Amino acid sequence: MKSIILAGGSGTRLYPVTKVVNKHLLPIYNKPMIYYPLSLVMLLRIREVLLVVNPQDLESFKKLLGDGSQLGMSIEYAIQEKPRGLAEGLILGEKFINGDKVFYLLGDNIFFGHDLPKIMKEAMKEVQERGGAYVFGYYVKDPERFGVVEFDEKGNVISLEEKPKKPRSNYAVVGAYFYDEEVVEIAKRVKPSKRGELEITSVNEEYLKRGKLRVKILGRGFAWFDAGTHDSFLEAGEFVETIEKKTGLMIGCIEEIAYRNGWIDREQLIKLAKTMSKTEYGKYLMRIAEE
Ligand code: G1P
Repeated sequence: MKSIILAGGSGTRLYPVTKVVNKHLLPIYNKPMIYYPLSLVMLLRIREVLLVVNPQDLESFKKLLGDGSQLGMSIEYAIQEKPRGLAEGLILGEKFINGDKVFYLLGDNIFFGHDLPKIMKEAMKEVQERGGAYVFGYYVKDPERFGVVEFDEKGNVISLEEKPKKPRSNYAVVGAYFYDEEVVEIAKRVKPSKRGELEITSVNEEYLKRGKLRVKILGRGFAWFDAGTHDSFLEAGEFVETIEKKTGLMIGCIEEIAYRNGWIDREQLIKLAKTMSKTEYGKYLMRIAEE
C-alpha cells in the first residue's frame, strides 16, 4: 500500500494567517502540521508517500521533507494547480499509485489514540485482502462542517453527505481513507459539487453504492482534529502540548518513528537531532538515541 497526503488547498478558513504561508507548514505546538499525518503513515509502515501541494509551496515542502531518504522513506510530490477538491488528489496521484491500494490522508487532520495504529492497521489489512474502501466516523458537535455518515439501527451505513445543512447524524467522516485500486477511476468520474469541488464524499458514496464501503467509529479514547479553522488549530496545538508534557513522549515525531521502525539507525538519528540541538525537540531525539 502507498500513501497520498493532500497538503494543497487555499486555507481561506485560516486567513489572514495562511495568506502567504501554507497551512500544513504552520506549527501545531512544536512541529509543522504535516508531521502529524506523515507520522500516521509511518506508523502503518508505509514507506512510499506522495505529497500533493500547491505550486507556490513546493519548494518549502521540499526544504522541510526532501525526498524522504533522511527518514528512510521515499517522498514524492505532485502539484495541484488549483484547489479543485479532495478527490482530485487521487487523480493527480494516478501514476504514483500505479495500480496499488492507497491510504489517503488530509494534511490538516490530526489523530491521537493509543489504539490508533492497531485500528488503522486492521483497516489497511481489510482493504488489502478484501478490497473496497474503509473510512472512519467521529462524533462531533458541528457535523455541518464535514462529510457526514448516517447509520441504521444495525449500524449499517445508509447515507453519506458533504457539509449537509441538516445533518442526519453527528458522525463526521474523518480525513483518513483506505481505498483499493478502483479509486482513481472512481475519482475521475466524480462531478463537481455545488461548491464546485470534486468531493471525497462522492468517491465514498460510489463505494457505498457498490456495497464496498466499511465505516468504523473512532469512539472513546480517540482525539481527532481538523485543524483548518482558528479555533480547531489552537485546540490541536494545546492538546499536543498537554499530552506531550504529561507523558514525556512526543506525538507526530517523524524522526523517532523512523528510528523505531528501523528505517534509520542511531547515527542517523543523532545527526538529525544535532540539526536542532537548541530545541526541546532536538534534545528529545537525543534522549531517544541514548535509550
Ligand atoms: C473535508 C471533507 C469532509 C471531511 C473533512 C475532514 O472537508 O470534504 O468530508 O469530513 O475534510 O477534515 P474540508 O476540509 O474540505 O472542508
